[in-house]
Amino acid sequence: MGARFPFPSFPRGWFVIGFPEDIAPGQVKTLRYFAEDIVVFRTESGVLSAVDKTCPHLGAHLGGGHVKGECLRCPFHDWGFRTDGVVVDVPYAPKIPAKAAVKTWHIREQNGVILAWYCPKGEAPAYEVPVLDEEGWTGNKTVRWVVRSHPQEVAENTVDCSHLGPVHHVGRTDVLSVEQEGHFMRVVLQMEASGAPIDMPDEFNDVQLDVKLYGIGHIVSSTTVLTSDMQTRQRIYPTPIDEDTIAIFGVSNIRQMADEGYTREIEDIFYRAFLADFPKDFPIWENKAYLDKPMLAGGDGPIGRYRRWCRQFYDYPEAAPAQPAAAAAAQPLAAPVTAIAKLKGWLRNLAQAPAANGNGDNNSGSNNDAGLDAHLIDLGPRKPRAVAATSKFASVGDYFDSLEKRFNPAAAGDLTAVIQWVLTGDKACTYFAEIKDGNVQRVAGTHPAPTITIEMSADDYLLMINGELNGARAFSTGRGRLRGPVRLAMKMQRLFPLEAAV
Ligand code: FES
Ligand SMILES: [Fe+2]
Repeated sequence: MGARFPFPSFPRGWFVIGFPEDIAPGQVKTLRYFAEDIVVFRTESGVLSAVDKTCPHLGAHLGGGHVKGECLRCPFHDWGFRTDGVVVDVPYAPKIPAKAAVKTWHIREQNGVILAWYCPKGEAPAYEVPVLDEEGWTGNKTVRWVVRSHPQEVAENTVDCSHLGPVHHVGRTDVLSVEQEGHFMRVVLQMEASGAPIDMPDEFNDVQLDVKLYGIGHIVSSTTVLTSDMQTRQRIYPTPIDEDTIAIFGVSNIRQMADEGYTREIEDIFYRAFLADFPKDFPIWENKAYLDKPMLAGGDGPIGRYRRWCRQFYDYPEAAPAQPAAAAAAQPLAAPVTAIAKLKGWLRNLAQAPAANGNGDNNSGSNNDAGLDAHLIDLGPRKPRAVAATSKFASVGDYFDSLEKRFNPAAAGDLTAVIQWVLTGDKACTYFAEIKDGNVQRVAGTHPAPTITIEMSADDYLLMINGELNGARAFSTGRGRLRGPVRLAMKMQRLFPLEAAV
């Protein structure tokens, strides 16, 4: 390896080298990873293969070839290679040379990524990575970054607790469990994530994060927002390009909810937040040194333990590099981070919006997906946070009658919007509020082009504004419908605070 990182080679393991849609049937591409050219091609019937760049005949670069039927043809003398690398056609020769073949890479195409097995000694895969359940999840939203760093640094971020505050604005973090078994490592934590970095209320919200590492190049982070049924999953795949540079492939999904439009909105919020927050680590990674002997302090997290786990992916010569001080491993466990961690906190805001009470969490801790969180440790109740107000609305009529009085122009700023309520049932009513130039006007009836419409039974709406029905759960399960930007809904609690009415 280069001078910057003291590792004897790239780590062994599965690494993502692309997305399936990058290679269409009949296409050949040369990808540069592990400081090598990998020639990837897809046959006309759709079978993907990755081979060494060098044709065994006279050494032409196979990346200049083309696909014909189910074969890759060399650009020099037109030899035909099957997807398993075997030469099956030499157009001008009566007989194919014995054992004529090009070296192939072990690849997998699963869950919307192309994985390649890297081993500096050329050995076959030592493990597989599980195929993730896609049923009930949104499709992949993807990204690829290039960063001057090393894959081990990216995964180390998942156990580096003490950078969460300075870089990601995350508050208190409890590590609930850490497991290591062979190539697998898992960290589960609970954290308080702020909405401030994306211009959401600067409240801290409880988020549980379950991070699974399958080797150094494969990170799956599942997040549950405690007050709602929302679950998200982000995957992060750092892959060496050369000794100094990595590609980071990112994939974002959320669990589908009853309302398709609402699902799309939340999916988009998460994805954009992922794009905004994850790269905040990049300038640090690009300019930091890798210290074999870091000077760790209490609260740094299990960095020593992580680095010892990483050693299995390298072939160290006899005298291995020194490890962080043993004391470090005994530090309190750390928080995995990923950009994602923080993002989930915003959804807690949704759980409260548009409830005016600010304490819409009457279902805290419930979790419907045993698969995701079956191993979480119950740390017992956290210290309750201050509740903004304890007063309640006697009726939805009270809510609307006091709407203009409760309006907070400072929260509105230069917002121009029309918020519409279509409430059904015995106490059905329809209103809209026009917000413009720091003023609000409430009008009975419907607006021709509202910015956002909240549809719900009046009884449920009363429960929600009084903090007795979780807003996010109501919308995600279809008990209410939200048409329009979710971000505006998240702001309603600040636009129309209850306190002003009491
Ligand atoms: S060099 Fe490839 S076919 Fe001759
Ligand atoms: Fe980070």
